This record gives sequence, structure tokens and C-alpha cells, in this order.
Amino acid sequence: MAKKIIRFGVIGLGLMGREFGSAAARWSHLLAMDVQPVITGICDTNPALFGWFTDHFDSIKVQSADYHDLLASSEIDAIYCAVPHNLHAQVYIDIIRAGKHLLGEKPFGIDAAANAQIMAVLAEHPQVFVACSSEFPFFPGAQRIFKLLRDNPFGPIIEVEAGLLHSSDLNPDKPLNWKRMAAINGEYGCMGDLGMHPLHIPLRLGWQPRNVRALLSKLVTERVDKTGQRVPCDTWDNATLVGDVVSADYGQFPMTIKTYRIAPGETNTWYLHITGMRHSVWFSTRYPKSLYTLAYTPGGAQIRGEESLGYETAYPTITGGIFEFGLSDAILQMWAAFCDELAHGRDGMKQPFYCATPAETQQQHAILTAALASHRQTQVIPVAG
Ligand SMILES: NC(=O)c1ccc[n+]([C@@H]2O[C@H](COP(=O)([O-])OP(=O)(O)OC[C@H]3O[C@@H](n4cnc5c(N)ncnc54)[C@H](O)[C@@H]3O)[C@@H](O)[C@H]2O)c1
Repeated sequence: MAKKIIRFGVIGLGLMGREFGSAAARWSHLLAMDVQPVITGICDTNPALFGWFTDHFDSIKVQSADYHDLLASSEIDAIYCAVPHNLHAQVYIDIIRAGKHLLGEKPFGIDAAANAQIMAVLAEHPQVFVACSSEFPFFPGAQRIFKLLRDNPFGPIIEVEAGLLHSSDLNPDKPLNWKRMAAINGEYGCMGDLGMHPLHIPLRLGWQPRNVRALLSKLVTERVDKTGQRVPCDTWDNATLVGDVVSADYGQFPMTIKTYRIAPGETNTWYLHITGMRHSVWFSTRYPKSLYTLAYTPGGAQIRGEESLGYETAYPTITGGIFEFGLSDAILQMWAAFCDELAHGRDGMKQPFYCATPAETQQQHAILTAALASHRQTQVIPVAG
């Protein structure tokens, strides 16, 4: 099949930049895609990171430590940008102004003001397609819940719990990096790192809470820097947010969002649990092959179920239906959704679940900004918008 080629530049070649490279390299995993990303540009201020890309991709035409070189190149249609949060606003704005399409990383601006700047420039460039990276909703269990939500077997919802829990910072002797420095990572701390992940599906369903009460923890207040000196580690490690959601379809219910960087026993666990009067469903990437349910008909029995999930994906692949699905598969599926929407528009996509939108990142910022104020003031704070 002739494929439409999208020529990508990657800005930020660290942890996530390479994940995108790997997804592009195994595009053949996807079946029936009529669009394909090809990496033609790479940029990082650390040139030591070029080698992995140049070793594996012979399509690269531009490599530079200055991202403006990628933006000026006629060899690049779109950018994947995975840089520290303090750079999001400037770099994303420059990308959009250069007329390049953008998959940006969350939180899409270090704070609400930075996000508003990005949104303002985006409004001036409607021809540029922009989305935010969020891959966990592409896990088969999450996709199944999303489909179920459209049919609403749940009845009135009793509560929603969602979160992203990991243990990256459990070791107090782990050296400081930019993710633990508020000046670079942002005042949100763990919420900015992780918040978009659990919020993506709730926001897609219109479940932006009207208000929020947040409890934030700083468990490790000092870490060693590169020179071995103990220096302040000034970001929030863990956050629990409880919001009051009012939904025309599902009623009024509390939604609890947890973003933990210090969660013993969790490596990188995304979960969504919806408890309803007639049906409940629970999915966690910790048990990626299981979808747990509880069905109840009024006056009848409460019946628990565990469905074995296979490799049931938004975009079909070569993988057998009973095989396992993992994070790199979710990233590939997210990339397929981005390229599909870029090539065909939202209405022409091969499946209905599109990447997180800039408007959803704005809602995320409203929630996280309210969460900071809530913790500071020990109060319930209304969520703007
Ligand atoms: N979607 C996910 O699951 C996920 C996971 C981790 C991180 N992230 C997000 O991805 C982004 C990057 O995180 P990461 O973990 O890849 O970080 P990282 O530190 O591994 O990589 C960031 C890279 O950006 C480079 N960089 C810094 N300044 C630059 C500049 N001016 N121009 C070009 N490159 C520059 C750094 O040298 C580094 O290589 C963040 O927004 C983070 O929140 C997303």
C-alpha cells in the first residue's frame, strides 16, 4: 500500500525521544496504516545522544544542537518534542509559528500561564495540528473501558479513581535530576509529570471536576547532585486530588486522582476504576491482561468477573490476539493515532480514540493549579473554566 510519509524532527533525544524513535522503527508492526513517520531531523543540546539515532536511522537529514535548525528545514513536516518542562512554552510556540505540526509532551507548559501562551499562539495557527502525548489510554483495558463508557452500563456513577503511581524516587540516594527541581520541572512537581495520564480519559468524557481538594507530600527533601553535594529537592513527590464531578450522563460523583513518584511496589502503574450502581470496572497496567468487573441488577446478585484481555488494539497489528501488550505498544498505538489524525482529520480516523488535545491540557492545568492552591490553603478550591 502506498503510504503518506510524515517527515518528523525529534527535539529532545532523552528517555521519550528514543521511545518515539523505536516506535517509528517498528512501524511495520501496524497493519493497514496508510501513513508512516520517517525521522528526518534530530536535535538535542547533548550531542552524545545523536549516535543512537544516526546508528539506527539512515533517513536523518538534519542534526543540530539548536532546534531552530529543525524548524527552518524543508525536510521536516512535524515535530515530536520531549524536553524539560521549563522549555515547553518557548519551544512549542516556536514550532507552531514555524508551521510544523506538533506532538508535544505533557504537561504542555510548566504552568497554567505557559500553557495559556501556547494556546494563544495555537489559536493564531489553526492549520497546525497539535496534540499532547498520553499513551496509557491505548492499553487494551483502557480502550475497553472507554468503549463501555459510551454505552453506559454503569448506571449512576458512585466514584471514579484514576492514577499514575511509580517508584522512580523511592530510593533517597538516587541523584537529583531536572524532574526533582521545581525551577525546571515546575511547581506542580509530580502532578505535572504524571497528571495528564490519569486525567486523559476523564477529561475526554467531560469529567472536569468543579472543585478540588489536594494533599501533596514532599518525602525526600534533599538529594545528591552530580558533584555529590546534598542539595534541596524541592518538588512534590506525591499528590492525591479529590474532585467533585457533575456529569449529565452519569450524575454527580467524587473523582480521586493520585500521582505518586514514591509508591512502593509500583513501577509505572496507570489505573482507572469506575464504580457504578449497576456496573463497575477496574483496570490497572499492573495486571495488563485482566479487566475486573462487577455487575449488579437491582435486587439480584453482585457478580464479579475477570476477563482475560489479549492484544486488542485500537489499530490492528501483526501480534496474535492472545499475546501481551506493554508500554512500548501503547506508545506505538498513540503514534498511530497522531499520524492518522494528522493525515485524515479527526472525522477520517480509522478508529475514534484521538490523542490528548491542547484544550484537554488546558483543563489539566486548571485542575493542577487549583490543586496547588488547595494544598496551600487547606481548602477546597474551584477549578477554573
Ligand atoms: N509520555 C510519557 O509517558 C512520558 C514519560 C516520561 C517523560 N515524559 C515527558 O517527556 C518530556 C521529556 O522527558 P524525558 O523523560 O524524555 O526527559 P530526558 O531528560 O530524558 O530528555 C530530555 C532531553 O531534552 C534535551 N534538551 C534539554 N534542553 C534542550 C534544548 N534546548 N534543545 C534540545 N534538547 C534539549 C536534554 O538534553 C535531554 O536529552 C517531559 O515533558 C516529560 O514530562 C513523558
